Amino acid sequence: MKNMKIVSAEWLFDGEEIHRDKAVAFEERIEAVDTKERLCALFPDAEVTEGGMRSLLMPGLINPHVHLEFGANRTQLRYGDFMEWLKSVIDRRDELVDACKARCYKEQIEQMLQAGITTFGAVSSYGLEMKACKAAPQRVVFFSEAIGSQPAAVDALYADFMQRLEESRKLADERFIPAAAIHSPYSVHPVLAKRILSETNDLPLSAHFMESPAEKEWLESGSGPFKPFFENFLGQSTPLCFPEEFLQLLNGRRALLTHAVQADDNLLEMVADAGHTVTHCPRSNRLLGCGRLRLERLDELDIPWLLGTDGLSSNTSLSLWDEMRAALMLHYRADANLLAKRVLRAATAAAADALGIEAGRIRKGAFADIVTLELPSPVESSEDLPLQLLLHAQEAEKVYIAGERVR
Ligand code: BEZ
Ligand code: FE2
Repeated sequence: MKNMKIVSAEWLFDGEEIHRDKAVAFEERIEAVDTKERLCALFPDAEVTEGGMRSLLMPGLINPHVHLEFGANRTQLRYGDFMEWLKSVIDRRDELVDACKARCYKEQIEQMLQAGITTFGAVSSYGLEMKACKAAPQRVVFFSEAIGSQPAAVDALYADFMQRLEESRKLADERFIPAAAIHSPYSVHPVLAKRILSETNDLPLSAHFMESPAEKEWLESGSGPFKPFFENFLGQSTPLCFPEEFLQLLNGRRALLTHAVQADDNLLEMVADAGHTVTHCPRSNRLLGCGRLRLERLDELDIPWLLGTDGLSSNTSLSLWDEMRAALMLHYRADANLLAKRVLRAATAAAADALGIEAGRIRKGAFADIVTLELPSPVESSEDLPLQLLLHAQEAEKVYIAGERVR
């Protein structure tokens, strides 16, 4: 096999576990994982890249939730409280979206590549970043998103959504995966949600869910700061549905629910029973005053969780390393070493499973989406490796996507 590559490293994280002194042989997909010596004997013509004493090889990171269209934000949006943030988004949306053009999308995509993100889920309000995503070296799950709570607008919003979705479907291939997003239970009319769900049965699905205390209060009791917001801006005095009803709408689908910080035990049990996953965005949650996701409850209920950066509209970087470090600090009661390993899994294998892509693991048959990193100094034991890696990782050294070196 002419294009076979072998890359060896002192450490290998396979998406689940840490191994020592291993190598990977791959073309577009991973062919074998073994010692370098055995792989070199098996594939004598392969191009061999040897990692040194401090090298680590792992699946490329997967960031399932990012809003590139709002990537021009630096200090424009207000942080600290979800409602204040939302109002600032509405006030400055046009200005921010206008300020982010091809170069701005490209810089965000490059920032993710530098961090070793080989797949990202782009949540798209307008479809403006579709071309940049199609041109990205990464695998992209492109979530065309619907938003709109007013019944009179349902037909127009549905038509606009379908147009963007059809455009993305035309671009579909192994690296560009069309997908659908329903913005949230409070912002999408159930009739619109139902119509979209029926058109997207074959696609990955994402929704923001129970993000802020304001959302919880509005959906559960029709009160709180969302009430004047809906009355003044949207002429609506009651919420569209209870959170339970929103989950019932999604029945039969396995959705990526983003945030779920404010979901109580009852809702989390419904999430578990339905087989949904939760995308955890700790920095976004912190900045918008949304609270701390109860990761330990998710674990008790066996709800798989992933890590997302959200957009630069509620974050300062699109690095999943920064996000993993934030998760480590936010969940300070959890054992640091065990949590470090869990967040690495969340950012690789768990995210691949949720998105239904054959990556996120170093194992035979998976796409060769692989990154290497250098530790700053040697690590003694495999038990220490996840935490030390998390504390020090900034940029990927080498990045392969479908076996091609892209960095
Ligand atoms: C709407 O378009 O109906 C909407 C947007 C943001 C928040 C709430 C509602
Ligand atoms: Fe988001």
